[in-house]
Amino acid sequence: MGKGAGREQMNNSVGRLITFEGGDGSGKSTQLHMTATWLQEHGHEVIVTHEPGDTSLGSEIRSILLEGKHTPVPECELLLFLADRAQHVSEVILPALDRGAWVLCDRFSDSTMAYQLAGRKLADLDGLAAMLEFAESGVTPDLTLWFDLPVSEAIHRIRSRSSMGEESTRLDEEAQSFHELVYAAFTELHQAYERIIRIDASGAIEQVQEQVQAAFNVRGMV
Ligand code: TYD
Repeated sequence: MGKGAGREQMNNSVGRLITFEGGDGSGKSTQLHMTATWLQEHGHEVIVTHEPGDTSLGSEIRSILLEGKHTPVPECELLLFLADRAQHVSEVILPALDRGAWVLCDRFSDSTMAYQLAGRKLADLDGLAAMLEFAESGVTPDLTLWFDLPVSEAIHRIRSRSSMGEESTRLDEEAQSFHELVYAAFTELHQAYERIIRIDASGAIEQVQEQVQAAFNVRGMV
């Protein structure tokens, strides 16, 4: 039996995978933690995780990818993100789903679609869909929240975070044109997939969280 069969079993259990997506600086990580607390109050077992780097092996891949010591070519960058994903799905996500937990994941395959396929212009690579499915063991999110923030606003937030001493990553420092490609890709993904709900990330933290909770309600998930 293939690894993908695990996901079919999961669909019959109460486990859920909810992914939080968006450009850098969109505030999704803060929202993810607020959402975790809210879901726990509803009695769910909640696992909070992120990509890249939330396994011991993955944290080493994360350093290679983001610290800026290396500049991988686009193909290498894609394969490293997928290597991190394969380890993460197998070690963290599937076991949690199998025991019925709700997994809140900060970035997943839509980030790869937006950053590598669109941003790095790898969309025409042969066999790409099969590679993604292989790395993800066929796991698909039950719900994806896209935190929509215009690029100019996101860049402003990233700059003010780094002026306050927060470290930026190699990808944060990409040119505005790269972030525009990423933004356009998230917009297209949202139009193409019903599982993706758009959250207007430009408002106050509480207003954004209200939209997140409304999204779970709309999908009948609370
Ligand atoms: P991180 O510091 O975790 O920040 P945040 O998610 O809050 O922006 O940075 C992760 C970076 O990795 C981010 O710039 C997006 C990028 N990324 C990809 O390019 N492809 C991927 O598949 C994933 C998961 C992330």
